[in-house]
Amino acid sequence: MASFQAGLRRALAQAPRSAFSCRQCLHKTQQIAPPASLISRSRNAFSTTSRVSSSQPGSAATVQRLAMPYRSVYRTPASLLTFSQSIKRAGSSNTVASRSLSTTPAKETAVVAPEAASESSSSSSEVSSFPDTSSKSVAIWLIASAVSVFGIVVWGGLTRLTESGLSITEWKPVTGALPPRNEEDWEAEFAKYRASPEYARLNPNMTLEEFKKIYFMEWSHRLWGRVIGMSFVLPAIYFVARRRVTKRVAWNLLGIAGLIGFQGVIGWWMVASGLRDELFSPGAQPPRVSQYRLTAHLATAFVCYSWMLMTGLSILRDLRVRADPAAAAKLANTLALPALRPFRLAVTALTVLVFTTVLSGALVAGLDAGLIYNEFPMMGNGLTPPHAELWDAHYSRKPDHSDLWWRNMLENPSLVQLDHRILATTTFCAIMALFAFSRTGRIASMLPKSAKRGTTGVVHLVLMQATLGICTLIYMVPTHLAATHQAGSLALLTGVLVLGHRLRMPKSTLRLVQKYATKGSPQPNIGSRVTPKQ
Ligand code: HEM
Repeated sequence: MASFQAGLRRALAQAPRSAFSCRQCLHKTQQIAPPASLISRSRNAFSTTSRVSSSQPGSAATVQRLAMPYRSVYRTPASLLTFSQSIKRAGSSNTVASRSLSTTPAKETAVVAPEAASESSSSSSEVSSFPDTSSKSVAIWLIASAVSVFGIVVWGGLTRLTESGLSITEWKPVTGALPPRNEEDWEAEFAKYRASPEYARLNPNMTLEEFKKIYFMEWSHRLWGRVIGMSFVLPAIYFVARRRVTKRVAWNLLGIAGLIGFQGVIGWWMVASGLRDELFSPGAQPPRVSQYRLTAHLATAFVCYSWMLMTGLSILRDLRVRADPAAAAKLANTLALPALRPFRLAVTALTVLVFTTVLSGALVAGLDAGLIYNEFPMMGNGLTPPHAELWDAHYSRKPDHSDLWWRNMLENPSLVQLDHRILATTTFCAIMALFAFSRTGRIASMLPKSAKRGTTGVVHLVLMQATLGICTLIYMVPTHLAATHQAGSLALLTGVLVLGHRLRMPKSTLRLVQKYATKGSPQPNIGSRVTPKQ
């Protein structure tokens, strides 16, 4: 038995490679030589890397280094071999692909044709019924949805600023879509409002005509929310059912749809906080919604907006990869430069900072903290209010005052305003520093033009936003300035997100770059739902 096993091992070692390959694979490997045109197209696709001179940041050594982070993407054996082979035959040595080649036995590279790679990639997409890029119409619809969310955020701000938010005292997700149709309906709605703390304590002399105005603000805000929900969910179902989206985008759509529904719940949860019975008592705080819930509502809207926008922009980027793989490969190599990593990190940190500033602004709005200290940069006699006012024991609810610091930071209007000033000033300075960073040293020479333009755009946005904030404060929160300031915060967040988007190429996009750059086949149609086959 032992001698039989040893004999079998020897025989296996001597057997030809073909003995271990399936017939189909063997059949494909016999197609061998790729047409010259394909080789040259493959070479062109990555010519950016092979053309760089050694004096540039993308010199041979740098290109070798920058290829490192993307190694995993180039690991797919068949396409890796094909691409390497094309590049090798074309006589190029300084490319991402040729680096991968060094780990590949020469014998194997000589027998795998581009067709094998394309079949390998198309067979992988055959496994899933989803295409490898989403259609352009999905991207346009997502960006339009984001614009609609932008609009509802501003409208929601106006609803708050005109003190209309508590005019509808019930939550009827379906039947509430219809406004009161006759005088009887209006009287019934007004009667419900008259039973609310806001009417009793702040608006005891309000007439029906005045009530109709604030009711319209709140009703239209809620209707807009319903429209966003329907105009998102229905097309999303269609796009997924018709496979107009990638699997990844389908999951994103599901997440966004869930978030929209969640936002409706938060919206009512926020309104309910302004209708509590305790608010009737004269000693209680003025009837208004909880600043925490307002902040949660605003934050969810900002996340929803960002998610829609980023998903839409990512689809457009993937379509650009399909349209021009060579340019995408060039950009991928630039973005992989290690020298750009600190800049990318700085932009990520800035995004977090802007979002935190937004949250602190929502607290200012929720507490009406913009109606005190209406000067800048002073706050009373100094740059900050007196210490005792900032850390007031009145806000603490625990006997040992262990919650003193955070309760004051989130509930004391003086400190909340100071927090917002500090965060806003930090955001402003951080953006100026980022701009300087983008224009000096190695970063200046390596940063893609689009990122430089993005940085300039963010500088303009923060200048505008800070000016609006100061004006809102000095003029004691007039509706038009406060609403514009709110819109400005979303515009600033957009600027920072777009900048971050221009500095990143996720793995899924890199896979597309690899796939289309290696094919050397005619360019696929943008927006086509089906992965083209050879
Ligand atoms: C630089 C970045 C800034 C960002 C991202 C930002 C963001 C925000 C946001 C999101 C709100 C809430 C708006 C609402 O819900 O209606 C807000 C409110 C406010 N911000 Fe800013 N802000 C910035 C700068 C400033 C500056 C420099 C000041 C003035 C010192 C300022 C003063 C105010 C005031 C007074 C409010 C309350 C307005 C209201 O009651 O509606 N902000 N901010």
